Amino acid sequence: MTGAGSSDPGSECDLVVVANRLPVRHDGATGAWTTSPGGLVSAMRPVLDRTRGRWIGWNDGPTEPPPVPGLQLESVTLRASVVEGHYHGYANRTLWPAMHGMVERIEEHPGWWAAYQEANDRFARAVVATAPRGACVWVHDYHLLLTPAMIRAIRPDLTVGLFLHTPVPAPAVLRSLRGGNGLRLGLTGATMIGTQRSVDADNLRAFLGETSTRVAVHPISIDTDRVHDAVADPLVTALSERIRARLAGGRRILLGVDRLDYTKGIPERLRAFDQLMALGLLDPDEVVLIQVASPTRTAIPAYRALTAEVRALVATINGTHLGRRGPVVRLITDTLSFREVCAHYLAADVALVTPLRDGMNLVSKEFVTARAGEPAALVLSSGAGAADELRDGAVMVDATSPLGLAAGIHQAVLLDGDIRRARTASAAEHVARHDVHRWAAGFLADLRSSTPAS
Ligand code: G6P
Repeated sequence: MTGAGSSDPGSECDLVVVANRLPVRHDGATGAWTTSPGGLVSAMRPVLDRTRGRWIGWNDGPTEPPPVPGLQLESVTLRASVVEGHYHGYANRTLWPAMHGMVERIEEHPGWWAAYQEANDRFARAVVATAPRGACVWVHDYHLLLTPAMIRAIRPDLTVGLFLHTPVPAPAVLRSLRGGNGLRLGLTGATMIGTQRSVDADNLRAFLGETSTRVAVHPISIDTDRVHDAVADPLVTALSERIRARLAGGRRILLGVDRLDYTKGIPERLRAFDQLMALGLLDPDEVVLIQVASPTRTAIPAYRALTAEVRALVATINGTHLGRRGPVVRLITDTLSFREVCAHYLAADVALVTPLRDGMNLVSKEFVTARAGEPAALVLSSGAGAADELRDGAVMVDATSPLGLAAGIHQAVLLDGDIRRARTASAAEHVARHDVHRWAAGFLADLRSSTPAS
């Protein structure tokens, strides 16, 4: 590692990661701190280990988080009213649906924008107070869009990059929001902004207008070793056999693994499955749909309504299509461990990754990695960022079209074994060549070589 503040684009700079979540989470039920699941932590880990890495995030636990070896954690605490207007308000009821282009779901409230500004200010203050001179600050996601300009105003020595994990909608959607111009000004404090797809980059450039902020496409990926290790674990393979025998009763398994979020298209997927059975194209004695749906943002009414809708749909479908080998839909609403998720990947015949809209969707990349060269099929929505990379390895569907979705699922069930093997192998090969380490290193190299915003 060369010294902090080096201008050599090939060198590493001290890294400060800023994300709404810390890499450890407090579990309210057990009182334990656990490593946050998901790609971001394992993506950032190797880079943070090589640098004097810091991670700044919101601490919603009752105490300071325990130390994480090799990492300096900096927790930001927010007053309850700020959490309400920021996390449960502007970030997740205004920006989240807006970023996904779901304009009918956008909610606005006069107090939310002020809370969003205040939360962003708290994060920015934590950065400017602790970042080493000349460090690279890597901000993540839609919760923190104002921080780049806030940081830059006080610490022009820092290079600020931002990665948007979500899609970016047409610029008119962002412009129409309360605070839309503030978002634009906040973002233009970044030296570089990374997006998942080129369409996101085009929309973002149009929204930003004339600016020296560089926008570049850096599709996020997965830690393939972590998947390989999990699927090679005898406990994981044993669990996958139990899933096949007990949950599925020997039937072929269609699998969905999602957070219980309206962007994921879970009711639409259930209706398509229902339709295929009603038409006699799928037999309840031959197939089962296992839907893992992890609860998320449960304080927000739209998410509670979705949970109720999904439960009601599953009950209706299971009551309509009676099979001799157990319910035709198995709904799992627990948050599974990574190894449990991998056991489901091993058990499945067809993975249904059919979000209406998704920044990337790492489940699709994990599934093809877990099943490389095996006769497993992936149904993939063109609304997921992964479509740009995995379309040749998947049965592509328009998840917003009930007919198209049902046809795609049916096609995948019938797909020839050799075609399945070839497709998972080629998709997995792509993921192996474009893994999360390459993503993180590519983003940082691009950030270091970009000219600072002025
Ligand atoms: C998406 C967002 C992440 C977020 C995650 C879980 O993937 O891009 O920033 O952390 O959802 O949502 P939560 O609200 O639980 O953090």
